[in-house]
Amino acid sequence: MRIAISTGGGDAPGLNAVIRAAVLAAVHRGWECFGVKRGFGSLLGESDLIPLGPHEVRGITHLGGTILGTSSRGDPLKWRVQRPDGSWEERDRSQELLDSFHAHRLDALIAIGGEGTLGIVHSLWKKGLPVVGVPKTIDNDVGGTSSTFGFDTAVATATDAIDKVHSTAESHERVIVVEVMGRHAGFIALNAGVAGSADVILIPEIPFDIDKVCDKIRRREAEGRHFSVVVVAEGALPKGGTVSLIDPEHERLGGIADKVAHSIQGMTGKETRSLVLGHLQRGGSPTTFDRLLALRFGAAAIRIVAERQFGMMVAFQPPGIVAIPLEQAIAQPRRVPLDSDTITTARDLGISFGD
Ligand code: F6P
Repeated sequence: MRIAISTGGGDAPGLNAVIRAAVLAAVHRGWECFGVKRGFGSLLGESDLIPLGPHEVRGITHLGGTILGTSSRGDPLKWRVQRPDGSWEERDRSQELLDSFHAHRLDALIAIGGEGTLGIVHSLWKKGLPVVGVPKTIDNDVGGTSSTFGFDTAVATATDAIDKVHSTAESHERVIVVEVMGRHAGFIALNAGVAGSADVILIPEIPFDIDKVCDKIRRREAEGRHFSVVVVAEGALPKGGTVSLIDPEHERLGGIADKVAHSIQGMTGKETRSLVLGHLQRGGSPTTFDRLLALRFGAAAIRIVAERQFGMMVAFQPPGIVAIPLEQAIAQPRRVPLDSDTITTARDLGISFGD
């Protein structure tokens, strides 16, 4: 068997661990592995495939990023090409990709990616590409798996930042609003906010009322707690309002912390600062949980290829790793369930969701 491995979309800690496990499990079966550079780049003539053996994947389990490189802008079904007049058109390059896959005499593609990449490979599978997906994203918003790798590391990074913000907020008797990633899911904000003892957590699943947020800050003030930490997910939105976008064309979320901070300062008179953790949350060494999950995903993907179960995705359904149809994984993005134990715990701790 000749197996290609690709990493697409935003990077997440644990990508290299998946690559390592998949390569070692494949080599163990006497198969050959090849890395596709920059998303689907090497299958679209951008560069050569890279042969991957034990030597190439040695010592990479703990490294952030991806040795293959990645791209968030390389959908082969909607390839953007600039016309001479500066305008853009979308081209379908899927047949070119399939031809290249066969010309390289490949037998299977292991595609490691989030919602976007998994949707692309599902379409390519329907066009005949033998593919197995591996769910990756710090946002934890892929359906059918209780966790994606990268999420635990992002939560650890955000929690560490919230801890650090606490001491400076308290010293200066300020409100500090911390914006975390997650797109339209509030998992990072919720988990890091609870673990980091935030006073207010704002998530997309619970549209907020700024009056309620300010009430919580005023109540703390009255109790002699002259500082507050607010954690806001980048996709959080006010009741009846819309999400905050910094780049509407590419639907890039951001800027909500600044808006919330501005309102809090205006309404409560408390000095308020904001900060955006941004891509810091995608970097660094994966936590032990993410390394183990990523290694389990990589090895499981090879077992699924061995069984020729294409069009499937590996998923974590504790305690095991299972294979589910890609279609099921992409049907419904995962969101924080409003009856989740973590939300109930937060409310019991007195944390406000601004509702
Ligand atoms: O999906 C992962 C993620 O980090 C989101 O949390 C965030 O909204 C987005 O990617 C940022 O994308 P980019 O790398 O294009 O800025």
